[in-house]
Amino acid sequence: MLLRMMVVVGMGTRPMEYRVAQLEALGRFLEEKKQDILEATGDTRGRCWGAEQLGQGTALRSWSFLQMTQLDSAFIRKDPYGVVLIIGPWNYPIHLLLGPLIGAIAAGNCVVIKPSEKAKNTGRLLAESLGCYLDSDCFAVVTAGVQETTRLLENKFDYIFFTGSPSVGRMVMAAAAKHLTPVTLELGGKNPCYVSDTCDVRSVARRLAWGRFFNAGQTCVAPDYVLCTLEMQEKLMPALREAITEFYGSNPRESPDFGRIVGQKEFQRIRALLCSGRVAIGGQTDEKDLYIAPTVLADVLPSDPIMQEEIFGPILPIVVVASMDEAIDFINERPQPLAIYTFSSDSKVSRTSSGSFCGNDTLTHMILTSLPFGGIGCSGLGRYHGKFTFDTFTHQRGCLHRNMGLEALNTLRYPPYSQQKLGFLTATFEIKRKGALLPVAFLLCVTLPVVKTLH
Ligand SMILES: *[C@@H]1O[C@H](CO)[C@@H](O)[C@H](O)[C@H]1NC(C)=O
Repeated sequence: MLLRMMVVVGMGTRPMEYRVAQLEALGRFLEEKKQDILEATGDTRGRCWGAEQLGQGTALRSWSFLQMTQLDSAFIRKDPYGVVLIIGPWNYPIHLLLGPLIGAIAAGNCVVIKPSEKAKNTGRLLAESLGCYLDSDCFAVVTAGVQETTRLLENKFDYIFFTGSPSVGRMVMAAAAKHLTPVTLELGGKNPCYVSDTCDVRSVARRLAWGRFFNAGQTCVAPDYVLCTLEMQEKLMPALREAITEFYGSNPRESPDFGRIVGQKEFQRIRALLCSGRVAIGGQTDEKDLYIAPTVLADVLPSDPIMQEEIFGPILPIVVVASMDEAIDFINERPQPLAIYTFSSDSKVSRTSSGSFCGNDTLTHMILTSLPFGGIGCSGLGRYHGKFTFDTFTHQRGCLHRNMGLEALNTLRYPPYSQQKLGFLTATFEIKRKGALLPVAFLLCVTLPVVKTLH
């Protein structure tokens, strides 16, 4: 059952007519089962507020609209959540902490900042100097290892913003659940890059190599692997070699623009992945220097170790598929990634699901502040960047200030609900299923004050 839904979602459920038809069916259910609903709710709730008695609640809503007047004032207040915890990662230790911090401050929160313990220098820098700039009553930097962070998470925060791995993300969410604290989780995943047969191979290779080898591959949104035909793999290989040489010279180890792996443990994990497929470009490593050359692996199989986890290093595996449809199936059989990339003129890839999408390039979509950035499913929860960051740290509080006059109008809403009262209300306000929107909109316009938004 659940499995069938997972196949159908995003295909069968997307067309507008389908959604309208389903909503109409729900309306029919409410209409045809009215009596059963009354009996079922009567069982447990009595005549609570008369809502069910008044015809599926819609009448009650229009009824309350009617009682609002221009003397009342409705508005949305953008409130801060309160005390926010921001946990940063090591790969972009300043950027991925300060980005969310800006939004949290803009929204009016107090913030506890927890830099990654793996990025020692930036952690120390922030701990020592941020306090000289920001109000230390409201903003604090906590340098903490795994154990201290676990203890930190036992506190009740009002919002937690975490960037890191899915496994730590699960622990953060479990800790947050104890206090029902809302979370944003910026995680990772294996981001596929599909390359069709009809591309300009040189440009593809440069855009792909830049995205993969930037920061030595330690980027959550980097293209993780390539899907293309055997023919395209043959064409891509010399083009990728050329792009790598153009960017990092004939010995990337000497290039000031090519990074190193963050630590021993990560180095060993990534080096072990080199046994997958066939090394077509690069492959050199130096443990003392934490150096792994920009590497391309050809003929990688879906069962190879490198296809079982997010690589997070300077290795680009190519998995051969027969067609675009096969590539789409391959992507859909796996957890939803943070990003999907395609070099193609076909838009069929919208039949997939991912946190974000970028056509004909890599990484660049995340530079636009007009686009929300975040994952879906295993690649994360929530979104930020630009205005979305402010919204993330903001609680939209619906407020109504009513006028104390015209009390007589309220009589209908108060018990006891005599047959006359109910009859009057149902007759006057029951909204028919068809054309329901019009009277509601009309009532809203004539009686409700304009909703304002306060910052
Ligand atoms: C990729 O570029 C080609 C050629 O400029 C264009 O026709 C196509 O629509 C682009 N594809 C996407 C997904 O943006």
